[in-house]
Amino acid sequence: MNLILLGPPGAGKGTQAKRLELRHGLTQISTGDMLRAEVAAGSAIGAEAKQIMESGALVPDALIISMIEGRIRQPDLRCGFILDGFPRTAAQAEALDAMLARLGKSLDAVILLRVDDSALVERIAGRFTCARCGAAYHDRFHPPHVPGICDICGSAEFTRRADDRAETVAARLLAYQSQTAPILPHYQASGRLHEVDGMAEMDAVTAEIEAVLAEVKTRGELIESR
Ligand code: AP5
Repeated sequence: MNLILLGPPGAGKGTQAKRLELRHGLTQISTGDMLRAEVAAGSAIGAEAKQIMESGALVPDALIISMIEGRIRQPDLRCGFILDGFPRTAAQAEALDAMLARLGKSLDAVILLRVDDSALVERIAGRFTCARCGAAYHDRFHPPHVPGICDICGSAEFTRRADDRAETVAARLLAYQSQTAPILPHYQASGRLHEVDGMAEMDAVTAEIEAVLAEVKTRGELIESR
């Protein structure tokens, strides 16, 4: 099964993608994580992306599209993938359609996490990760069991993303509204867009996504059996 998780910054795409990976053996492809890895590695792509990301704007389409094209061809995606943070513009959505057609792959569902802007700011501002193992936490919604100690690896070092500052979050929300939200009708028109209440508790969001996937799978099996 191949999926896209769409939604504004902080909607919970990464959180839910990780859960779907564990439950369904799918592979998360996060363009944000890929770009942050390039920045950390000090590569040419990282050098081009760093300042743009820190300003809250979108990285140029050509760079993102070639990065995804390389990733989507790799053999570890046999069980399917979850695109997290891609596509984000009309050009990226068109490039993805062409890429999938060339590779003979299908897109089974596009899941949109709907969250109010006010909740997004709180979610993003409270987010942090373990500097050693990368486990994700939130000051209010998901703090470590023992304050200051990672539940998973016991490290006492944590990091916050450079683009999670309040002033950058406003720019990221604007980029979503002006460049990403306009691609929703493209997926709605093909009947693949499913809206999920991203304001609900994390487990309830997961349950709603699971219900969508079960419906998509049943529909696919019915079509195959005809
Ligand atoms: P990216 O890394 O993709 O960031 P984003 O889209 O802004 O999304 P986030 O990772 O901030 O949020 P999320 O939806 O994954 O939420 P999360 O699960 O972490 O992109 C960063 C930058 O890279 C972009 O600004 C751009 O510059 C560049 N870029 C990336 N892709 C690009 C592309 N395709 N084209 C061009 N540029 C690109 O959750 C957030 C917090 O909320 C967490 O703390 C979590 O614990 C908490 N939370 C999650 N769900 C819930 C819930 N249901 N209730 C309460 N809290 C919750």
